[in-house]
Amino acid sequence: MQKQENLPGSKKYFQKISKLRPVLQKIAKTKGTPLFVFDGNEIKENLKKFTGEFKKNKVDVNVFYAIKSNYYIDLLKTVVKNGGNLDASSKRELELAIKAGAKQIIYTGPAKTEKDFELILKHYSKITVNLESKRELELLAKMAAKRNITMRCGARVYTKMQKGWTKFGMPLEQLKNFFNEAKKYKSIKFCGIHFHISMNKKPDPYLKTLKEVARYVKTNFSAKEREKFEYIDMGGGYYPESFEGKYTWNKKDEMNIFDEGNLMDKIVKDKFKKRYIPVKVTPIETVVKKICEVYKKEVLPILPAIQLYAEPGRFVSHTSMHILLKIIDIKGTGKTTFGITDGGTNIVGWEKYQFFYYVPLINLSQFDLKHEKPFVVYGSLCTPDDIWGYYVYGGKAALGDILLIPFQGAYTYTLAQEFIKDIPKVYNLS
Ligand SMILES: Cc1ncc(COP(=O)(O)O)c(C=O)c1O
Repeated sequence: MQKQENLPGSKKYFQKISKLRPVLQKIAKTKGTPLFVFDGNEIKENLKKFTGEFKKNKVDVNVFYAIKSNYYIDLLKTVVKNGGNLDASSKRELELAIKAGAKQIIYTGPAKTEKDFELILKHYSKITVNLESKRELELLAKMAAKRNITMRCGARVYTKMQKGWTKFGMPLEQLKNFFNEAKKYKSIKFCGIHFHISMNKKPDPYLKTLKEVARYVKTNFSAKEREKFEYIDMGGGYYPESFEGKYTWNKKDEMNIFDEGNLMDKIVKDKFKKRYIPVKVTPIETVVKKICEVYKKEVLPILPAIQLYAEPGRFVSHTSMHILLKIIDIKGTGKTTFGITDGGTNIVGWEKYQFFYYVPLINLSQFDLKHEKPFVVYGSLCTPDDIWGYYVYGGKAALGDILLIPFQGAYTYTLAQEFIKDIPKVYNLS
């Protein structure tokens, strides 16, 4: 047996899985597999945790859950019911946000079109638009004026911290010009600044961007102009202590690792000292505490009318969905058998678990959370690149066993595609 560091929060997650096991087994039997299972309690918990940390630091944050991380309608309704607002990035997402009953919506995203603005203006009283370009400003101003509407807007900026994200918004240095342009239109209420960076495992990107924005605004805007700003929107990217690791044998995130050599043989024979490295992140308590410190010290004194907005996606949705599969074929010989399940990785849209992310596979039928053994689990797509994982918690796998991939709510259901097979249904636990 290899010495393996547990994933963060394993104890808590395993307790939840043990509790859910009978319910999940029953659902698999009555509803069939493959299946997504949605747990709204996780949304409530994550939302409460996120906003609670800001409250502890005496900062009032307005949370706009990023629909792109998981658009399941009951999830969106759960966010709204629990006091959250929504961040939509397309007409399609805006329609979902309206359907979910969102009271406030942030519309963020590049290359907005006339069709997007038509729908935005139809629901203008609930919406704030983060503008990306002068073209968007001119088009929206014209369309809003025609309808006698004043549209609430801000601008998306990028700083030195958003390297590689220059397709979005404008460089911070152009904000003053943009502000002056927006002033020309009566139909535009320009009052916000937005930035975003993804997958932040440390608080630094938020801190550095907030400081840079504060410095710029202080130097380039008069006190009177600064009073006009009502929000600063930090976007998303808050990385949870997720139930995932990175395979030790693919540190460079490559996709050709099985082309040569005997890697699969080494995995199956458990030859790696460590199977995976847990994804390490700064806990949200520290991230939020540091953000609040900078916000109170550097942002609030120069932008007195400001409110803090955040667009967490992954942090809210990551634990809210589980995937249920059934082993329907067992192949191989002797000790090196492997399983084939009834669901393919089209369910998550890409080869996430095959090459990049380790996530525990749990055999609910041969339940044993103390022992994880090598056992390759393939999906049912007509392609070899369709592997769920290489290790399974449980006793010796048998035909008909139900497998669980727990806490996989972020960017799985959203990325699912009709590649060869259908996208499975979602079963709502509540
Ligand atoms: C503008 C914007 N806001 C919010 C998010 C959500 O990010 P995350 O799910 O990492 O919190 C994204 C994701 O790319 C985004 O582009």
